[in-house]
Amino acid sequence: MANTDIDSTGAGKAGAGKGGGGEVSDRTGPGPVVEHIISHKTESYVALFGHPLHAQTVHFPIALSFAVLGADVFYWYSADPFWLRAGLWAAGFAFVAGVAAGVFGTMELLLVRGIRLRVASWTHAIAAVTLIAILGTNWGVRFTDLDNTLPHGLMLSILGAVFTGVAGWHGGKLVYDHGIGVMIGSKVTSSKR
Ligand code: HEM
Repeated sequence: MANTDIDSTGAGKAGAGKGGGGEVSDRTGPGPVVEHIISHKTESYVALFGHPLHAQTVHFPIALSFAVLGADVFYWYSADPFWLRAGLWAAGFAFVAGVAAGVFGTMELLLVRGIRLRVASWTHAIAAVTLIAILGTNWGVRFTDLDNTLPHGLMLSILGAVFTGVAGWHGGKLVYDHGIGVMIGSKVTSSKR
């Protein structure tokens, strides 16, 4: 790396060292650290016909996590045992779907250097793994005894819904703020303006 004069934000001072000391830098670019990070590709590696598998699978744990919460609230309100069974099945599939989505997400994180280098990717991964742990616990407490649905299952469902929001929000930021996983198709690159 040519420029080693890096401030706390990672931005370098291009003017430093040129034409004597004491000059105030007029550099407005992102700096060498950021330039290094953005120089690496972030296209999805785990994709089917150009469609990232993680993005395709995350909808299931998201929807099922809220479905468990809905079933618990309906059971609390109605005492109808149908909602107990619905909550048990939804919790089980939420966990399995979360693990499946997590496998694809982990592959992207570990295999794609540009994704691995970004702190935001790890923020999302930590929130997502915490979510998967909550989903598994929520299933486990009901699987061992359905009477655990109230209150422990309901409390875990609320926690799961909160973490679904946190993990989903950070996942969305990866795509829409950082452009991670986005693959520019040939129809775009070949289009005439
Ligand atoms: C071990 C767990 C996980 C890791 C390491 C991980 C990693 C990633 C990565 C690298 C991306 C960028 C897009 C891509 O490369 O496909 C992403 C996007 C995303 N992730 Fe995860 N993920 C994990 C689990 C989850 C789970 C359980 C959810 C469910 C809440 C989730 C929700 C999302 C969302 C909503 C996006 C944006 C997808 C889009 O709109 O295209 N992730 N994740």
